[in-house]
Amino acid sequence: MPAQRKLFVTTALPYANGKFHIGHIMEYIQADIWVRFQRMQGHMVHFVGADDAHGAPIMIAAEKAGKTPQAFVSEIAAGRQQYLDGFHIRFDNWHSTESLENTELAQGIYRSLKANGLVATRTIEQFYDPVKGMFLPDRYIKGECPNCHAKDQYGDACEVCSSVYSPTDLINPYSALTGAKPELRSSEHFFFKLSDPKVVDFLKGWTQDKDADGTGVPRLQPEMARKASEWFEAGMNDWDISRDAPYFGIEIPDAPGKYFYVWLDAPIGYLASLKNHFDKGQAKNHWHEPSRTDQTFDEFIAKENDVEQVHFIGKDIVYFHTLFWPAMLEFSGRKTPSQINVHGFITVTGEKMSKSRGTGIDPLKYLSLGMNPEWLRYYIAAKLNSKVEDVDFTAEDFMARVNADLIGKYVNIASRAVKFLPGGQLVLSSRKPKAALLVEQVKALYESRDYGKALREIMAFADEVNLWFDSAAPWKLVKEDKHAPAALEICSECIEMFKVMTACLKPVLPALAAEAEKFLACAPLDWANAATPLGAGHTVGKYEHLMQRVDAKQLDALFELPAEAAASPSPQPSPAGGRGSEPGGEAIAPGITIDDFTKVDLRIAKIVNCEAVEGSTKLLRLTLDIGQGNDRNVFAGIASAYRPEELVGKFTVMVANLAPRKMKFGTSEGMVLAASHGDPKANPGIFILNPWPGAQPGMRVR
Ligand code: MSP
Ligand code: ZN
Repeated sequence: MPAQRKLFVTTALPYANGKFHIGHIMEYIQADIWVRFQRMQGHMVHFVGADDAHGAPIMIAAEKAGKTPQAFVSEIAAGRQQYLDGFHIRFDNWHSTESLENTELAQGIYRSLKANGLVATRTIEQFYDPVKGMFLPDRYIKGECPNCHAKDQYGDACEVCSSVYSPTDLINPYSALTGAKPELRSSEHFFFKLSDPKVVDFLKGWTQDKDADGTGVPRLQPEMARKASEWFEAGMNDWDISRDAPYFGIEIPDAPGKYFYVWLDAPIGYLASLKNHFDKGQAKNHWHEPSRTDQTFDEFIAKENDVEQVHFIGKDIVYFHTLFWPAMLEFSGRKTPSQINVHGFITVTGEKMSKSRGTGIDPLKYLSLGMNPEWLRYYIAAKLNSKVEDVDFTAEDFMARVNADLIGKYVNIASRAVKFLPGGQLVLSSRKPKAALLVEQVKALYESRDYGKALREIMAFADEVNLWFDSAAPWKLVKEDKHAPAALEICSECIEMFKVMTACLKPVLPALAAEAEKFLACAPLDWANAATPLGAGHTVGKYEHLMQRVDAKQLDALFELPAEAAASPSPQPSPAGGRGSEPGGEAIAPGITIDDFTKVDLRIAKIVNCEAVEGSTKLLRLTLDIGQGNDRNVFAGIASAYRPEELVGKFTVMVANLAPRKMKFGTSEGMVLAASHGDPKANPGIFILNPWPGAQPGMRVR
């Protein structure tokens, strides 16, 4: 590996149809830590992101919002910086796939692939929504997975078995836009010939490469390399890269009315953002000096320039990044990525995030509550490793790690030790601790993205340092003599070790490290000076508390639902007496107007999943599809009447606009309708409503 590595680092480009959620922030924190770690070694790093602006879903969302897609995505783009600044995520540039750079690069790459004989045209039959009047994007067709037979999978890929297919392979498809049964219509499409033997051969070698570009690191994590082999065994299909107008995307050269499918131009957005960064002169005048270069974008990204291209992505988009993307680059004569680093998903209290409000953690709310962004950086880092494993955020765990470890072990060392150093002056320290060893271990762990292990090593070291301090008991020594040498020595040693640990934590806690550097009165910490002692005679500054503890009230507020959602709907008590004589065991409720009734939004829902709730004999957890594209999680007190498996696949009616309600087992995002007798002793039955055949998920019941 060269002494100074040249790194081009990206995170996945988020769709420009929504705000950042905690999953995005987690990915950016993971990459930002790695980038900061590399910069501390003096390597050249260009770290860029961008919005993924194209595709039918964004076009449809813009239309719904009454905006042009361009206006829609620029509004989303304008909201990005506050998140990035808020969590100390320091991209060098943030751009968009809806840009001149991306248009030119995408069209250029396409032309090269075509010149290489890797583009074919074919007339295909494709689903068309006769109600909406357009060819249906893959994500707007749902049906049963042809491979594993999971129900309600999207038209492009199965979330259960990860297989990728075309929507016409789905069993019993329906339009998620209108619920209509789609019609097959024919249209000419462009294909990238991934099944071409030279492409397959290249990818087989590329995905299994254990020493990517001589870095000594495999391109893919072992579990991802295995996944790739499975895909090859299943066989490579050509990839459909065109879409018909109306579409929000980049036009295919010499093919009027045809656009690139969003996943073709999306990864090219990595290059577009880098080009924009270089063209703006930011590479030449980079704020981080070792990253400065006089090279142009084309020179920097050229095959012979030994740049390592490193992508951080989530486990749901591996196929695109380990097959389509390297093949596009290779066969357009470009350099391919050195590493694809895949992370798992973050869940909150064990639950998958849902876009409907009520679950997850809103990153902006976190910041607006005055919670320290570095608590989250530390917590996420503590949970991450180099594997593709999911991460769960729980409030108790968060508080324990931050308060007990970060503050209790590390931050406190400085405040405890400095008290007994008159004038903050260090003396020669006596011990020969393994600081240099710690630094080497931690560096190796950051390099391989084993952040959790790195932090455990640092905290174990902090435990040791605290132990020395406690057993030396300087507070006793100074009672007799304020300058007792043993007290000065142990306290100097503790400050030295605090400095080493600060350097080790700096990629994770950049703002805290900056404050600590001020206190230590030392040069900016990096890996070269991390283990060098401040030395006898060095004077540290005045100690000001470096970090507050997490307050449980902040976490309560973070998880609190909006006011109206917190109020649990309590059942109307039935009027006293008269039970049994009244129809169904209870009196008819007081009269309402039609306006009152229409406030209640009842929808046809398909029960796509149903399971028992551990710890509850009454509840079943239902996953309901109401044609929104994201499913609802609803708890219903019907466990006494139905077995979960008999409900799966059935249709029912739900209250779709009920405020989400936080329950012991999770958040309920609505209510299903069921009939029951007012007096369960008279009749304990519960009967869930079921519409006549033909009703489609999402239809309103009025
Ligand atoms: N636009 C595509 C990526 C194009 S890359 C050329 C996309 N966008 S996304 O907004 O849906 O996701 C962006 C990134 O966030 C992906 O890496 C995805 O895996 C990640 N995450 C989305 N939800 C997540 C969690 N719950 N947890 C962690 N990361 C998750 O996919
Ligand atoms: Zn499947």
